[in-house]
Amino acid sequence: MAEYKEAPADAPMALKLMTWVDNRFPATKLFKEHMSEYYAPKNFNWLYFFGSLAMLVLVIQIVTGIFLVMHYKPDANLAFASVEYIMRDVPWGWLVRYMHSTGASAFFIVVYLHMFRGMLYGSYRKPRELVWIFGCAIFLCLMGEAFFGYLLPWGQMSYWGAQVIVNLFAAVPFIGPDLALLIRGDYVVSDATLNRFFSFHVIAIPFVLVGLVAAHIIALHEVGSNNPDGVEIKAKKDAKTGIPLDGIPFHPYYTVHDIMGVVGFLIIFSAIIFFAPEMGGYFLEYNNFIPADSLKTPAHIAPVWYFTPYYSMLRATTDPMVNVFVGIVALGAVAGLLFGRLKGAAKVGLLIGALVTIALLKTFDAKFWGVVVMGGAVVIMFFLPWLDHSPVKSIRYRPTWHKFIYAIFAVVMVILGYLGIQPPSEAGTLIAQTGTVFYFGFFVLMPWWSRIGEFKPVPDRVTFAPH
Ligand code: HEM
Repeated sequence: MAEYKEAPADAPMALKLMTWVDNRFPATKLFKEHMSEYYAPKNFNWLYFFGSLAMLVLVIQIVTGIFLVMHYKPDANLAFASVEYIMRDVPWGWLVRYMHSTGASAFFIVVYLHMFRGMLYGSYRKPRELVWIFGCAIFLCLMGEAFFGYLLPWGQMSYWGAQVIVNLFAAVPFIGPDLALLIRGDYVVSDATLNRFFSFHVIAIPFVLVGLVAAHIIALHEVGSNNPDGVEIKAKKDAKTGIPLDGIPFHPYYTVHDIMGVVGFLIIFSAIIFFAPEMGGYFLEYNNFIPADSLKTPAHIAPVWYFTPYYSMLRATTDPMVNVFVGIVALGAVAGLLFGRLKGAAKVGLLIGALVTIALLKTFDAKFWGVVVMGGAVVIMFFLPWLDHSPVKSIRYRPTWHKFIYAIFAVVMVILGYLGIQPPSEAGTLIAQTGTVFYFGFFVLMPWWSRIGEFKPVPDRVTFAPH
């Protein structure tokens, strides 16, 4: 037990109260550890806004969600009308709902930028692997949360989007149809589906999400933040105080810095809510203003924008594409055998592995491999800490052509996202297939390409110019 402290008799009431609390709960200790005595690198730039912004959006989603649930009815006969009731009759209901629907898209914008920042500065590398892994788990949960939430308004897109995605699980060999039935709770998307999706969206996933965010921050504060230079500030500490020479207290420096990000974010967020809450059909799809009709399939079903890069990869996995995969596996195996440094048993292993993969690729149909590609695109992110073999962390000190690779990666994601929204076309499919090969090539070949080129010397201390 910590030592019992006594506030002086003439101390202000606030100090006496805080001492009383601290003797029973480590409030001041926690505040110091995570805020006023958490030393963050002094060279954070605007890309470091997105962590705190993600927390802000999480809070917005939870608070607005609580108020929506007060009026929403998770019943196939009442759900659509209850959302209309929120929009028209509940005082400020329209604002709460638009905050929640815009918040969903804002969450993904903020998190995508947050992840890309991590990729640029090598923030996932030793000792921050767990920070990254918790982040990837958060991303998976976020996708689940958005998917389950999208069914709740019970519009045409809610209904048919869920139908399409749940049917994908039916493509899993052997257990697929039973799995889809288990998820739906019925043979088609129905009231049973709505009830279980509601339960996951409102209770299960938010709990896990909040727990993972706590783990994410605790892991980060254990190892300390990275920075745009990728220099470990803990390597150079003040001899007397033990404080990193390039560290500044998170509070007040970064609390104030982050407020600037929050103001910028809220300006854009409110502009969208008040002037363009549907965002041209990207944030709220027009078809979703029509009640769900199980007898009328919309001509074009597309997920919301934040899923479309992955949806594009799913659609790109056609029969010819599976043949391309077969070719890539065969080429990879031949290259490994001819140029790899593998010995006897390992060579045999590689050969058997390649043959089994090719046999599996040819055995199951392209729809199943599309699901694998879509899932694999997210799962591969978990392995990033072990795929990057670059001798430096930050993009600042990597060869110029690495910067182009990262720029192309971002552009490919945007193009895949765009194509996923469009109805399928021959040219679109071909571009999506090229993009998919680039996406996986980026990660799978990273152990090789990330160490090639001329790296710039990394400074001992962070680079910082006071404004
Ligand atoms: C609800 C979602 C999330 C929240 C609330 C959140 C919150 C935060 C916060 C507050 C920080 C410290 C400030 C900063 O570095 O920006 C941080 C750092 C970090 N986050 Fe997240 N995060 C989320 C999702 C993710 C995801 C999806 C990933 C990656 C897959 C990720 C990876 C990282 C990494 C690598 C760092 C360390 C950055 C560095 O030190 O340079 N986070 N996060």
